[in-house]
Amino acid sequence: MIEIQHLTKVYKLNKKQMLEQKTKDNTKVAVRDLSVSIQPGEIYGLLGPNGAGKTTTLRCIATLLKPTEGEVSVGGCDTVHESAGVRRQIGFLTNDIKLDPQFTPAYLIRFFGQLHGMNDADIERRKNDLFTYFGIHEFADKKVDELSTGMKQKAAIAVSLVHDPEVIIFDEPTSGLDIITARGVTDYLKHLRDQGKCIVISTHIMSEAEKLCDRIGIIIDGSKVCEGTLPEILASTGTDDLEDAFFRLYSEHHVEEMMGGVHA
Ligand SMILES: Nc1ncnc2c1ncn2[C@@H]1O[C@H](COP(=O)(O)OP(=O)(O)O)[C@@H](O)[C@H]1O
Ligand SMILES: [Mg+2]
Repeated sequence: MIEIQHLTKVYKLNKKQMLEQKTKDNTKVAVRDLSVSIQPGEIYGLLGPNGAGKTTTLRCIATLLKPTEGEVSVGGCDTVHESAGVRRQIGFLTNDIKLDPQFTPAYLIRFFGQLHGMNDADIERRKNDLFTYFGIHEFADKKVDELSTGMKQKAAIAVSLVHDPEVIIFDEPTSGLDIITARGVTDYLKHLRDQGKCIVISTHIMSEAEKLCDRIGIIIDGSKVCEGTLPEILASTGTDDLEDAFFRLYSEHHVEEMMGGVHA
């Protein structure tokens, strides 16, 4: 359902970014030759440290960024040439796009429902289901500005799912949430998976990848260094938990780089 083929994304850096990143090179390879295939009925986790290229990859799937090289398609629609077809199928959540602070959750879910071409009855039904599940009714008429981080995140999730998308792209969905709220979010993602949705999330939290994801792709410096179910990753790295597997892959990757290996 989501097909990523040889995705490479190179950013052009401005002078300020070159200074910040202490580099004389005015380009940054954020994602390097990444291929991933994600099916309906599974939760795929992109796991990697800050700066690994997770958000960049998810933005390419969500049509917000154009690949420098390679192709991405969703449900058979190419993200560059058939971006409207992709956008119809996806629900996208990221920490970088915030809900407008002066509106209420009730207003925003109606607004986005209408934007997706839904009729009033369908919007009302989805709003009721999602607001009930996430406990949003009690603050549905408060301005986003007045809500806590957890409330904002719940409202953002509900709004991103109003049109009942088949493909769900959530960037660090539990970041900044307390454990109860985080659990509500991951349980809901499992429920969507069990309904046959195709789900991709990014995370830097090992335990979340371990517990939530059916398959995990470990991303380091823009490259996928390992992929599989948890047992497959542990078997291929000869480790018995994901954190150990990650550190083994991390040190191997950096040794390869220092020796001018495949990533030179
Ligand atoms: N708009 C941009 N311009 C230049 N560099 C960027 C931009 N966005 C991200 N980067 C760089 O690309 C790399 C990957 O970033 P990102 O995809 O956000 O990683 P992650 O989500 O895994 O933390 C980082 O080194 C980051 O600094
Ligand atoms: Mg990110």
